[in-house]
Amino acid sequence: MKRGLFITLEGGDGAGKSTQIDNITRFFEEKGLVVVHTREPGGTQIGEKLRAILLDKNNTEMSPVTEMMIYASSRAQHVREKIIPALERGEIVICDRFVDSSIAYQAYGRGLGDMVAEVNKHATGGLSPDITFWMDIDPAAGRARASRAGDLDRLELEKLDFHYRVYEGYKKIAESEPERVKRIDASETVDEIRDKIYGHLDDLLARID
Ligand code: TYD
Repeated sequence: MKRGLFITLEGGDGAGKSTQIDNITRFFEEKGLVVVHTREPGGTQIGEKLRAILLDKNNTEMSPVTEMMIYASSRAQHVREKIIPALERGEIVICDRFVDSSIAYQAYGRGLGDMVAEVNKHATGGLSPDITFWMDIDPAAGRARASRAGDLDRLELEKLDFHYRVYEGYKKIAESEPERVKRIDASETVDEIRDKIYGHLDDLLARID
């Protein structure tokens, strides 16, 4: 079975993930590879419906466990319907957020702890990214950037201390899996960030060649 590459981007609000997703897409397309660009929550028809529920500002009564399970449901569908088939075709899958978001936002941010990793084992069926870029930005700075960019969704509207817990979560993930998770200083210029990401991708390709 030929297998592609699974790349994820993570980070708080306003970290500049979309610009770098475009750069990563270019990196692989210039090598003549097929790139599938997707996101969580969402990425499938069912997932996009779940996304609307998750981000709806009116859903103020949603319990943390409900929230965690809807993110995991969206992921379960996404992995099976879209990500694994693309990887099996040998394509490059670039995903805006994956399980690390659930660990950071639900395990750390909401305080749900180990339950989140356990549920997500079933959601992913054990699929893990080949490389993850954590766009590291201070939560207060990120929030200021995100609110300048437009309306804030249900999660973005959470208080700053929630976002600092999410940040701690990402830090722990990056420390515990340095091989997979590459910390990228999101306060650098767009070009500096692109060059660092390209360096990591060159290393990854050299390792698997
Ligand atoms: P999105 O608009 O995609 O956020 P961003 O533009 O910051 O990437 O909205 C996704 C929101 O959902 C974001 O605030 C992070 C949150 N989230 C979780 O809490 N858990 C998860 O598992 C995922 C995938 C996202």
